[in-house]
Amino acid sequence: MNVVDLRSDTVTRPTPAMRGAMAEAEVGDDVFGDDPTVNALQERIAAMLGLESALFVPSGTQSNLLAIMSHCQRGDEYIVGQMAHTYRWEGGGAAVLGSVQPQPLAHQGDGTLALADIAAAIKPDDVHYARSRLLCLENTLGGRALPVAYMRDATALARERGLATHLDGARLFNAALALGVTAREIARHFDSVSVCFSKGLGAPVGSALCGSRDFIARAHRWRKMAGGGMRQAGILAAAALHALEHHVDRLAEDHANARRLAAGLAGLTDVTVEAPQTNIVFVDVVGERAAGLLDHLKARGVLATGLYRLRFVTHLDVDAEGIDRAVAAMREHLS
Ligand SMILES: Cc1ncc(COP(=O)(O)O)c(C=O)c1O
Repeated sequence: MNVVDLRSDTVTRPTPAMRGAMAEAEVGDDVFGDDPTVNALQERIAAMLGLESALFVPSGTQSNLLAIMSHCQRGDEYIVGQMAHTYRWEGGGAAVLGSVQPQPLAHQGDGTLALADIAAAIKPDDVHYARSRLLCLENTLGGRALPVAYMRDATALARERGLATHLDGARLFNAALALGVTAREIARHFDSVSVCFSKGLGAPVGSALCGSRDFIARAHRWRKMAGGGMRQAGILAAAALHALEHHVDRLAEDHANARRLAAGLAGLTDVTVEAPQTNIVFVDVVGERAAGLLDHLKARGVLATGLYRLRFVTHLDVDAEGIDRAVAAMREHLS
């Protein structure tokens, strides 16, 4: 039985065409700056986002860490959402490794941080306080796309108050698709942007941190220190280049499959389905109806995560038929 793995968009396997591109990649030692495929990827993603420069890194976590450490000094702070990956799911790396403290803020219902809350969190220049240096936003956040006007206003506020701005765009292309704009139109509001190739884009490894030439030079130094220098990394960069070429437009299929799943689950009692904006569907199941649900799904070859709030993520390796199997398995348990 084929497993329908909806736990995350990170579970994809490289397609045969992607593996072909990896096998044929020209490589060199990237720590010497010699890898032509890494260099091509860095130039490509920087140009796509309209930023000066880019750095290929092993993971989104390292990309965000390097961004915070390159914008901030020891004793600075970054303003960030309570549910943002850079704050909640990166092991406290900015504080532990960078001596940069987070200033987390509660999200509004739509995932944004209220401008008034951001303004109030920016500390005065006073020895009692850490120096507020950076605003970090995330798009998409929990599958929701923050509106372009919001990103414009939040980053304008940060800039007026002397803060730099970073976007965790692990799923930047999903956000762009949902908002009906180019990735560049989002990136232009930020000083730096991190993009993951290993999520919806379907590459096995890798992210890029993009920003000004000076900023990327600082990040490059931190990447070396963090042990992120990879040698013949062109094999991995080739997968990312292939993904940028072939897997961006098809994200529309993932969004359509997420809507198909949500529609299939509509009308079940004791179940609330959040209308998906991108490729992530949250399903709240009341009380004991949730008991045994994940095991029931697993026995039918459908994988998801959660407890009472289940999360289903669509991606390259799931098609409409797989979605229909997931819907049928859910209905069998909950009807
Ligand atoms: C929004 C977001 N940012 C950053 C990351 C970190 O990426 P990685 O797992 O490559 O470290 C993730 C991972 O799922 C993520 O969802």
